Amino acid sequence: MLRIDLGGCEGFADNARYLENVSSAKHALQTLDSGSGAGSDFLGWNELPSETDAAQIQSYLDVVDSWLEKGIELVVVIGIGGSYLGAKAAVEALSHTFSREMHLTDGPQVVFAGQNLSEEYIAELMDLVSMRNTALVVISKSGTTTEPAVAFRLLKSRLEQRYGEEEAASRIVAITDARKGALKTLSDSKGYRTFVVPDNVGGRFSVLTPVGLLPMALAGLDIEAMIDGARQMQRICDEPSEDNPAIKYAAMRNLLYASGKKVELLTTFNPKLQYVAEWWKQLFGESEGKEGKGIFPASVCFTTDLHSMGQYIQQGERMLFETFISVENSRREVLIERDEEDLDGLNYLEGVNVEHCNHMAELGTKLAHIEGGVPNITVTMEQIDEYNLGQLFYFFEKACGLSAYMLGVNPFDQPGVESYKKNMFALLGKPGYEAMGEELKKRL
Ligand code: PA5
Repeated sequence: MLRIDLGGCEGFADNARYLENVSSAKHALQTLDSGSGAGSDFLGWNELPSETDAAQIQSYLDVVDSWLEKGIELVVVIGIGGSYLGAKAAVEALSHTFSREMHLTDGPQVVFAGQNLSEEYIAELMDLVSMRNTALVVISKSGTTTEPAVAFRLLKSRLEQRYGEEEAASRIVAITDARKGALKTLSDSKGYRTFVVPDNVGGRFSVLTPVGLLPMALAGLDIEAMIDGARQMQRICDEPSEDNPAIKYAAMRNLLYASGKKVELLTTFNPKLQYVAEWWKQLFGESEGKEGKGIFPASVCFTTDLHSMGQYIQQGERMLFETFISVENSRREVLIERDEEDLDGLNYLEGVNVEHCNHMAELGTKLAHIEGGVPNITVTMEQIDEYNLGQLFYFFEKACGLSAYMLGVNPFDQPGVESYKKNMFALLGKPGYEAMGEELKKRL
């Protein structure tokens, strides 16, 4: 079971003020669960785990089966932001690090596109597509986002040239709005199989909808276990209690923020969790960073980054706090062996497993950073598997909703994201943006 430990905040946070924040977090929970807060049209994620049924899970597994029958070797998942990061996080966390090099899975390799506008990335991906039996999953809630639309146009055309329109259509699944948007129109006209992003679930809260679950199923992950884990966390996070981990996390991070700790470093000790940190950054950054407010979410992966960012964290500007994701059990064991010569001086570690060294590094880092003025919140998960990742996803979503309400912002909108889009459209010469384009060019 996921646990949260606030012991590393002692000395940084006044207990009476923490208790006041716990009350505010309980109030935020009531506001969120009753649907009386800002953005309440976007609360579909809140009960999603308990509402996900076997038929939905089966519909994703049907796609996996039909593509396995076709011998699909490569699935390109096209999407950006909330239509990308959850699936990427789960696939990276739960796949063998070297599965590609080792040709380990019977199923297709899952890769991602539409998450950038790099010409070299898409050209290199098309090189791969031309060598593999390929299918596409295109994900866009709005159905109008430029990055995935460009990637989809290019990849769809490759598939149509290679397999013909009809066969290509059977190799494309679209996940989009039930009624509107260019992707919906295109899917209807071409006859693609579609799944719906529910109206009341925003992109960054959509990891437990088809947006995350279909790519995960295609990568061979156990999506039922993931939903089970999320379901259990939903029950725990529904409790208006000071032991509710979402309440504890929201209460403490807002208290630290009010005391000048403006940057939160999500800290992992396992590279498998690097994209979980990317997913978390989007969740909190887009939900809280508005109206001139919000903790800046950043991330580091230790021990790797102790050799690059460790110095700053220990002694740089004191505006940081850390949230460690601590993993209790490694799923593999590698013991350090005795060496008769012991020229490297490591024989004192004989018979010790590598994860024990990692754990001691974690505890040593925690103590050193607290000593250096960096408060620590630790979130512990039992191990990196589908069940525990499902818990972690739901925990952070719920805590994010509460935390943003405590901060006084609407967690479910993202008005600031539009500014770059308008400028990009104007500079690209999109019809309707001509005058703005001229104006911007003068400023460049
Ligand atoms: O969280 C969000 O709302 C955004 O990050 C979106 O997911 C992202 O912009 C992609 O949008 P869409 O799915 O409409 O293409």
